[in-house]
Amino acid sequence: MFSMFSLLSLLALSILGQADLIPFIADKGYDAGEYGAYPMQEFKSTRIRAPRVNIMASSPRCDDDGQYIFLNPRGRAVPEANPMILDSAGNLVWTLDGKNHGETYNLGVQEYKGEQYLTFWGGNDAVGGHGQGKYYMFDSHYNQIRELSSVGSIDGDLHEFYFTDNGTAILSVYEISQLDLSPLGGPENGWVWDGSFQEIDLETGELLFQWKSSSHYTAEDCYHKYTGGGTSPSGPFDYYHINSVKKDEKGNYLVSARYTHTITYIDGRSGEVLWQLGGKRNNFTDLSEGRATDFRWQHDAQFHEDGTVITVFDNGAEAGLFESEFSRGMRIRIDTDAMTAQLDTEYVNPQHTLSSSQGSMQVMENGNVLVGFGYDAVYTEFSPNGVALCDVHFAAQSSWETGDVQSYRVHKHAWVGRPASKPDLVVEGSSAYVSWNGATEVHRWVLEESDYVQIDGALAGDAASVKGFEGEVGEAWYPVQTVEKVGFETELRFGVEVKKYVRVVALDKDGRVLAASMPGTTRLDVDVAGIYFGFRIQDSDSTPLVILICLGTLATAILGVVYAGLAYRRKLDRVAYQKLLADEADDVVEVGDEEQRLLDRRLYAVEEGGLSGDGSGAQRGFAAR
Ligand SMILES: *[C@@H]1O[C@H](CO)[C@@H](O)[C@H](O)[C@H]1NC(C)=O
Ligand SMILES: *[C@@H]1O[C@H](CO)[C@@H](O)[C@H](O)[C@H]1NC(C)=O
Repeated sequence: MFSMFSLLSLLALSILGQADLIPFIADKGYDAGEYGAYPMQEFKSTRIRAPRVNIMASSPRCDDDGQYIFLNPRGRAVPEANPMILDSAGNLVWTLDGKNHGETYNLGVQEYKGEQYLTFWGGNDAVGGHGQGKYYMFDSHYNQIRELSSVGSIDGDLHEFYFTDNGTAILSVYEISQLDLSPLGGPENGWVWDGSFQEIDLETGELLFQWKSSSHYTAEDCYHKYTGGGTSPSGPFDYYHINSVKKDEKGNYLVSARYTHTITYIDGRSGEVLWQLGGKRNNFTDLSEGRATDFRWQHDAQFHEDGTVITVFDNGAEAGLFESEFSRGMRIRIDTDAMTAQLDTEYVNPQHTLSSSQGSMQVMENGNVLVGFGYDAVYTEFSPNGVALCDVHFAAQSSWETGDVQSYRVHKHAWVGRPASKPDLVVEGSSAYVSWNGATEVHRWVLEESDYVQIDGALAGDAASVKGFEGEVGEAWYPVQTVEKVGFETELRFGVEVKKYVRVVALDKDGRVLAASMPGTTRLDVDVAGIYFGFRIQDSDSTPLVILICLGTLATAILGVVYAGLAYRRKLDRVAYQKLLADEADDVVEVGDEEQRLLDRRLYAVEEGGLSGDGSGAQRGFAAR
């Protein structure tokens, strides 16, 4: 069925003009690493590259129109750890081109003052399981409009950057505090990474609220094995590991901490712990034989349905400690009057992936659940009741748990991208290749041709075609063909009859023009001369003419240099002669017209014969009348 599908899509794509390589379909060689840990593809129209994914399962139930996958592939096998958007078929939609934001994490879409923004963290993630960096906001034109920081001396952490409906952002910070580590066998006056979060006003950057784990959690709550450290502030021990914070309608916070296996509900005013799900001080009676509260090393806890449901990604493992059979998304029903917890649904992917770090779980509007497996390069979309519908590997399965390719979280959102840049066009042979990094509204590409173009305000191309062109002098473009956009890059082919220039115009689904690419030249040999002289030389005999023009220009230049040299030398001679006159100043008279004529003649003789021989005598004789 898959091979049938891939054959059909290959056929369809070759007709439609997709230039991308199509995704792998349940390819065993891919997962064995036969094409490398992170198979990528290059394009002709842009330098950016895209991963080639392996689609293990797909379903129309994952194809909500206008929804995309947001991730941050990074790791040893990833050349640039940049944020990335893919469509549901695994095609590249956008990636950050070149700009260096360090390692990046947690790309998502968030709303601020009614506008949608891309948000992500970028910085140094080699601090010890967390990060120190900045938070970035990009608008729908992919312009970076804000760079935000945490408040205080320690840069913001990578784990959380989340906008509330009230125009505030919540971010995680790993402060350094003192804590008694003796329960773990460490120093009594120990030092720890103090899992903290801040709520800041997005408008002003003002700190509105701060919470620190060390005021509420002790080393006794910790499951993370103590293997030394924590003896000084330069080597703190990570005992809590905050990794998600969300705020609810009541103004309280839900916090996930990996090393205490806790999901904690925190009073938004006092910071007091209201209750705790999981961990050593669990407050809930587990109605599911322990399966509702036994999550460990988990990530991404969130409330749903007015706080009666909690979802979380349960890793079930950490480095070197693979305690569970598989990682799972969990949907837990809680009753905070009876203090009971019940496991509603588990979301386990077909490979029974057991991911020892990172990961995410998102419940979408249609009830489907997207789970990102963090350290393992796979994301799976499930039906609400836990059936895996779509399953995508973005690196070889053989590379999972190696650190070669990973994405902290994977999100799915609706997004409209309208790049500030023009579409990228490259003409090669009889094909035009076009792509437009980040554009989500392109439905069709129209290839257009023209005999002349405006280049830096000057007209280049065929002068003849300007005649008969009514109205102001501009470019006259004529459509050649229209092709539906599929994938990231599209190829449009043209015949030998094509005019000198082509460009590609993007149309949306209603046929409205979104943008046009810069023109590309279909025949490159006449380009320079054509632009320089503002008219088009006939293609057939253009080469001899260009050579002739170049030779002519060269000859003119040489003549110019020779003339300038002679003039300069003439000036030197005049100066020398004036000096001689001055030396014999006694009976020198003014040089009249006749004398000047003779002088010129003499200089001419000097130029002809040089100053050798008895030239000086001749000069003296001439001047001393
Ligand atoms: C938003 O602000 C209102 C009023 O200040 C407050 O009651 C509410 O809890 C806040 N909600 C969030 C999500 O911060
Ligand atoms: C939760 O458990 C702790 C002890 O483990 C207890 O002190 C606290 O009162 C309990 N809270 C609730 C809301 O049950």
